[in-house]
Amino acid sequence: MATVTLDKVNKIYENGYHAIHDLDLEIDDQEFLVLVGPSGCGKSTALRMIAGLESISGGEMKIGEKVVNDVEPKDRDIAMVFQNYALYPHMTVYDNIGFALKLAKVPKDEIDQRVRQASKILELDANLDRKPGQLSGGQRQRVAMGRAIVRQPAAFLMDEPLSNLDAKLRVQMRAEIAALQRELAVTTVYVPHDQIEAMTMGDRVAVLKDGYLQQVDTPQNLYDRPDNVFVAAFIGSPSMNLFEATLTVDSAGSSIKLGSQTLTLDADAVAARPGLKKHDGATIIIGIRPEDFEDSTMIEHDTTGRQLTSTVSLIESLGSELMVHFDIDARRVDSGDPDAVEESDSASNSVGRFHPRSKVRMREEVTIAVSTENMHFFDPATHLAIWE
Ligand SMILES: Nc1ncnc2c1ncn2[C@@H]1O[C@H](COP(=O)(O)OP(=O)(O)O)[C@@H](O)[C@H]1O
Ligand SMILES: [Mg+2]
Repeated sequence: MATVTLDKVNKIYENGYHAIHDLDLEIDDQEFLVLVGPSGCGKSTALRMIAGLESISGGEMKIGEKVVNDVEPKDRDIAMVFQNYALYPHMTVYDNIGFALKLAKVPKDEIDQRVRQASKILELDANLDRKPGQLSGGQRQRVAMGRAIVRQPAAFLMDEPLSNLDAKLRVQMRAEIAALQRELAVTTVYVPHDQIEAMTMGDRVAVLKDGYLQQVDTPQNLYDRPDNVFVAAFIGSPSMNLFEATLTVDSAGSSIKLGSQTLTLDADAVAARPGLKKHDGATIIIGIRPEDFEDSTMIEHDTTGRQLTSTVSLIESLGSELMVHFDIDARRVDSGDPDAVEESDSASNSVGRFHPRSKVRMREEVTIAVSTENMHFFDPATHLAIWE
């Protein structure tokens, strides 16, 4: 068991590319930390540096109390699970799971005991004599986990371990890995395949962008209180709707002008953000999550002053909810996530998650109620959340 500590860690590749910038992370003993960010932001680089598979260009890396910057991977007491599992095809499941122990010259009877224990936990007992080629995708994934478990490492590092599984199996393995991690109580750094893994598996989530750490917090806090526009847009799917808007702060009632329409702000939300006063009369960035838009006819209480009118451009029914796309005549804000380009290219600039019984129709006008108490506010110059 161990903490993993990164203190101003940098990675500059041999070609001069600066992939990780002054990364500070303190991963607690037994914690499950999830590392997210757009493709190419440095997630694998960070994991590989912890594992010792990449050199550290600057800063200090500690596992427990020990500085490991110059420690060989095999001496770091860490087990890594990769996306492609990297199983040995010619070896049985038993030998695959026990291979690292054999290399480490662990006595045979102890290898046997550890392999059998791990395969029992992973429900692989009946498959120990098989070769990887004879296993299902989910079983192969478990063998990869087994190889990590038997080493009884100080920490697990997992880089998109579920990416090669189909959607249904991924749901099952997601729950299994999370439960296993809690049972074994081994410090874990995990790069997820998707938003659901990111939000459901970890104790905390660290968000990276272009090699810079943006925010580390519990999944719920990241969702409710993103520190900046990038995190706001990155966490949550579909993404938060982000617009430029003009703010009016007034003790009798604050509001924003969103394009040609005006929304009354929630008094408590404004009171919780004294910093908004400095932006009175100015353009700010506001964020509204899709679930904070609703077909006004589905809401019983009065939403006067908290409504927008638009025309529905697309309805996607997911059974449990409707994704309703529409346009607001305000400037949409680019969050800086290269993977989000696709979304901003879509026909309209806003999306709401409506009640499945909503009667909205394509190309018809709709009155949209906005839960302004959940609105997010950002400084347009810094993209930082406005609070103090
Ligand atoms: N060996 C390398 N040499 C130079 N650049 C690299 C090397 N490996 C990765 N990179 C670059 O570093 C950045 C981060 O890569 P990576 O850590 O794989 O990102 P992620 O896992 O978040 O998708 C990318 O821009 C990638 O092209
Ligand atoms: Mg990667």
